[in-house]
Amino acid sequence: MIEQKIVILTGAGISAESGIDTFRASGGLWENHRIEDVATPQGFAANPALVHEFYNARRRALETAAPNPAHDALARLQNSAAHDVFIVTQNVDDLHERAGSTVHHMHGELLSVKCAACDWQWESRSDIDITARCPACQTRASVRPDIVWFGEMPYGMEKIEGRLAACDLFVSIGTSGAVYPAAGFVQMAKAFGARTLEINLDPSEGSAFFDETRRGKAGRLVPDWVDEILS
Ligand code: OAD
Repeated sequence: MIEQKIVILTGAGISAESGIDTFRASGGLWENHRIEDVATPQGFAANPALVHEFYNARRRALETAAPNPAHDALARLQNSAAHDVFIVTQNVDDLHERAGSTVHHMHGELLSVKCAACDWQWESRSDIDITARCPACQTRASVRPDIVWFGEMPYGMEKIEGRLAACDLFVSIGTSGAVYPAAGFVQMAKAFGARTLEINLDPSEGSAFFDETRRGKAGRLVPDWVDEILS
């Protein structure tokens, strides 16, 4: 029997111990690039070659990263079937999947690309450049990373909000709470009566909204929490 409906939101902090840099640790820069240059539609329009190069490098970096004990523990919880666990991530890496979880990527995925002309999306593990052609509509120079950039609508908000409205427990792991709409999930879950828990290295911008906060590295705290909840 399913005991609890749990929604888990993850951010860059859960992948930090896998060697993938968080965003805000580097002073508003992402791997030495200004966010506006590599994570906005305007940046892509101004210099598509630079943006492709940037995401090609991030995609390649995934090959040497591996899931850490926090990803593994969430997969163990989700696959235990003791609870109904919905994981929504702001991360664009594939470490949750490689650990064995099913996740909803609200900010897109590094291993997916899409056509700006016809919106076709497909998996791509190889480098993309400005000459790439859409396999569906054959338009050239329309292929872009399948990343939700600033100013764009995150994926599946209706589905996420439905899960938040129905959950008993909301858990936020490794996110600074600086970027909406994800930063507002805790208040939404609370408004619908869920208990809320934050697991993060530093206090986040939303820490005060949580019923309980645990400070420390996800690689240690998440397996401990999963042990508790499964015991
Ligand atoms: P941030 O870089 O803003 O925050 C990472 C959080 O993880 C910080 O609060 C750290 O304290 C915490 N942290 C670091 N190492 C940790 C560890 N080992 N264990 C637990 N916590 C740790 O990343 P996000 O909140 O995910 O958007 O950023 C949200 C969004 O802003 C991203 O998805 C991205 C970015 O711009 C887009 O790309 C659209």
